[in-house]
Amino acid sequence: MSNPPPPPGTDRRSFLKETAAGVIGGCCVLIPAVIGIVAWLDPLEHDAGNGSLLKVALLDALPKDGSPRRVTIIMEKTDAWTRQHAVPIGAVYLVRNGDTVTALHSMCPHAGCFVDYQPARRSFFCPCHESTFAVDGSINDPHSPSPRGLDTLEVEVRGSEVWVRFQNFRTGSRKKVPAA
Ligand code: FES
Repeated sequence: MSNPPPPPGTDRRSFLKETAAGVIGGCCVLIPAVIGIVAWLDPLEHDAGNGSLLKVALLDALPKDGSPRRVTIIMEKTDAWTRQHAVPIGAVYLVRNGDTVTALHSMCPHAGCFVDYQPARRSFFCPCHESTFAVDGSINDPHSPSPRGLDTLEVEVRGSEVWVRFQNFRTGSRKKVPAA
């Protein structure tokens, strides 16, 4: 016994239904994939602080004797999916001399560990491989494994406020090259 033939127009309706389901299913897969690829190619562009001057401290809060003061850099972090407020993205040491301020990145240029300031020695020390740096960020030990001194960052003193253009730099290189 054979099946009865489909009513006229059934094949066309089935074809349209299957095509529509395929297009909708494709969109459900493709759109998130494209957004993900865009986010991957532009990974958290804002979270490294590149290109933005950030208010990081008040001038009066910095020691007048030139002792470095560590400041955490906090900013809004945005990607294709989320927006987070007040996220710590790094740290700098601020060194005040009169009304001018120098900002030093707290990341060791050797392999990226965070340096500590040691007041008794008036120098920065990296606990990972024992690089040491003078208060101005220069290498003060000829045997230091770090290929360069601590990275300086652009600073603006705007009245009573200290603003820093925060960015990361490549480690392990003699040259100070911004991280991608
Ligand atoms: S990471 Fe600092 S000395 Fe190696």
